[in-house]
Amino acid sequence: MAETAKLCFRNKTALAPMVRVGTLPMRLLALDYGADIVYCEELIDIKMAQCKRVVNEVLDTVDFVAPDDRVMFRTCSREKDRVVFQMGTADPQRALIVAQLVQNDVAAIDVNMGCPKEYSTKGGMGAALLSDPDKIEAILTTLVNGLSKPVTCKIRVLPSLEDTVKLVKRIEKTGVSALAVHGRFKEERPQHPVHCDYIQAVTKVVSIPVIANGGSLDLVKTHSDITKFREATGACSVMVARAAMWNPSIFCSKGTVSVDEVMEEYIKYAVRYDNNAFNTKYCLCQMLRDRVESPMGKQLHAAQTTKEICAVYSMMEYYDKIESELQQRREEKNNTIESHPTLDGDVITMPVRFEKREYPPQITPKMYLLEWSRREKLEQPVYEVVQRSQDRAFQSTVIVAEKKYRSTLWEKSKKSAEQAAAVVCLRVLGVPEGRVGEDSCELVNKRKREENKNGEIQSEDSPVPELDGRKRHITQSPEKAEEPANRTTNKAVMNALHVNQTAS
Ligand SMILES: Cc1cc2nc3c(=O)[nH]c(=O)nc-3n(C[C@H](O)[C@H](O)[C@H](O)COP(=O)(O)O)c2cc1C
Repeated sequence: MAETAKLCFRNKTALAPMVRVGTLPMRLLALDYGADIVYCEELIDIKMAQCKRVVNEVLDTVDFVAPDDRVMFRTCSREKDRVVFQMGTADPQRALIVAQLVQNDVAAIDVNMGCPKEYSTKGGMGAALLSDPDKIEAILTTLVNGLSKPVTCKIRVLPSLEDTVKLVKRIEKTGVSALAVHGRFKEERPQHPVHCDYIQAVTKVVSIPVIANGGSLDLVKTHSDITKFREATGACSVMVARAAMWNPSIFCSKGTVSVDEVMEEYIKYAVRYDNNAFNTKYCLCQMLRDRVESPMGKQLHAAQTTKEICAVYSMMEYYDKIESELQQRREEKNNTIESHPTLDGDVITMPVRFEKREYPPQITPKMYLLEWSRREKLEQPVYEVVQRSQDRAFQSTVIVAEKKYRSTLWEKSKKSAEQAAAVVCLRVLGVPEGRVGEDSCELVNKRKREENKNGEIQSEDSPVPELDGRKRHITQSPEKAEEPANRTTNKAVMNALHVNQTAS
């Protein structure tokens, strides 16, 4: 199979890396409007090194998920050839581990050497690297030698032009494919004027593509200013941060689109890709700029969830449509998972996550399991919870009719872990769990009452309700229905397990 062409950094306009702003919705929007390259927000190597790569079949994305289940980096095929993964690092080997983890899902790897914030510099990352050229060389050489994707870095200029020139020559020798230069000293704030002359000096001494950055406040206000900034610095490419954060349609060569329209498009992506609501809100507040104190800005400020954000923008119809599509996909996915419970020692396990939003308010799987146990005249379910030390996540095992059930996935709270264990038990048993759109217990009771009235053999004590679409879990013969509830349940569960009995 032909290898895809490596990302070229010449004659390009790029969305700059921006914490909270540069997540998937903003990157896709920038691409829609005409950006050639999009950088993700800076992600710290220590956090990324703990992540697992997960293909998210519901959203059609690839997620890098932390042990506490937070999605640290989400990407999709649409941006694969144009997204640059930026990391914060001060450790060549850790940087390599992270870069190897993500490289097949991104177009290039960038190292942030310009962040002046204390959280970065105190760990030797960001702008702290600028005063440690040996470390810069070690990180970049390790990455260039160990990766198949282009490696780049983003620096700030040093107070002396001579030192800046020395540094960039050394950086070029490591084999990086491009160099982004933010034309400010590390002590300077975003409102200080950008030093175009420093960027120009850099472009004269290196032959790799230089990407000019820092023009947003005074120089780059419209699309045509991007070209002017390119010319003023002599760089071959331009990277835009704040001007794009305020209105990403700055990348559009046909002229900018109204911010109101842009916000709507941004929200659509945020819903579609389940963007962190806090980040979505942050981004929208940036786009509102001086309107952030308006009544709408205040409503936005009060919104806590994506749904509430959509309500502020009168986009509930869109939200409901996408949410129901995603919900349908989640259910399809759950159904696939449901058919594969496995035995781990004496515990029946399934990879189940407790999603609160899948249940009506006040309804939980634990309630359903308790109600079912009472009806089956079983002892009350008993929950055991463990917490692991590395991320303080919880896992629960529930004991029902002397059988143990557990989700293989760890949850952030004890409560969610118990709910997940209850879901595993209910799904294995084929009992309703109370999810939205599912047959409810009420329905089961009503049906049974009606069946009794009609003189059918169905007994109220039938150990396992056989509901539409769930029969596949439990195959019961009529004799088994006469057995004591707990024994029957146990056997039925074992029947339901697609495992080799010897495996236990
Ligand atoms: C909200 C915000 C977040 C930022 N986060 C990052 C980051 O994660 N990595 C980085 O290298 N620079 C970051 N920056 C700096 C920008 O990438 C850029 O260098 C700076 O804003 C100057 O460019 P501009 O004049 O186009 O805004 C951030 C800037 C802003 C405004």
